[in-house]
Amino acid sequence: MCPPDFFGVSYVINPWMQGETGHTDAAAARAQWTALKEAVARVAEVCLIAPHENLPDLVFTANAGLVLGKRVLLSRFRWPQRRGEEEIFRAWFEKAGFDVITPPPGPFFEGAGDALIDEARDLIWLGHGFRSDAAVAPFVEKLFGRTTAPLRLVDPRFYHLDTCLCPLPGGALLYFPAAFDAAARAEIESRVAPEHRIAVDEADAVKFCCNAVALGDALLLNDASPALSETLRARGLTPVALPLGQFMKAGGAAKCLTLRISGQSGERI
Ligand code: ARG
Repeated sequence: MCPPDFFGVSYVINPWMQGETGHTDAAAARAQWTALKEAVARVAEVCLIAPHENLPDLVFTANAGLVLGKRVLLSRFRWPQRRGEEEIFRAWFEKAGFDVITPPPGPFFEGAGDALIDEARDLIWLGHGFRSDAAVAPFVEKLFGRTTAPLRLVDPRFYHLDTCLCPLPGGALLYFPAAFDAAARAEIESRVAPEHRIAVDEADAVKFCCNAVALGDALLLNDASPALSETLRARGLTPVALPLGQFMKAGGAAKCLTLRISGQSGERI
């Protein structure tokens, strides 16, 4: 995670940021971020990366890269406003002893914002259409030795895959169907049995319920309706609502603010 010392909205690269320039409250952001960090720290070790002035979105560490075992495929950001983050994340991973790989020339790739590891299916879901390019898929497959399932995103509010889809422990999949084109919905339906699909409605989706961090039985998320919370509880999961409204002004919530750097079948590599 990255402390929100320099977090704010100072440019607009997704619809959530529209009209929010300069409207974040630093103290509120810090309190929300700290609550999330403490919730994660109850279950996992939290490693921090130093914040940087002029890189307000560095807090969204999910976009650093895709980590599997000790290997990380770094991001290549679509928007110039975030490109300065690439070398900062690279330096952090190198210092931490990761094998750091640069994406092949050409395609954009925004890391664990768009590439989600589905352990139950031995698969990497890959969102594309707004930030990452589908052309990166063969490289990801070869590098990590896992099948990728590219999914085209069509709703600009859900511009990263982790804003509208979340593989859950035990094999269930939380997703907002309208964020995907018909082919992507068919792809999800062909790979995930109906009893494992949890389609959320728009009211839950815009609360970023899919932008959830699964840690043991806990599911850390900005918010979920009573009905969705009940559905999750029935599957043995405990939704933990952590309000992250300050970060939603920048288009991110719980999952975006974290990057899982271990515990993803690293022994396979
Ligand atoms: N303002 C950031 C952007 O638009 C938010 C990133 C959210 N990250 C995520 N993994 N969805 O790039």
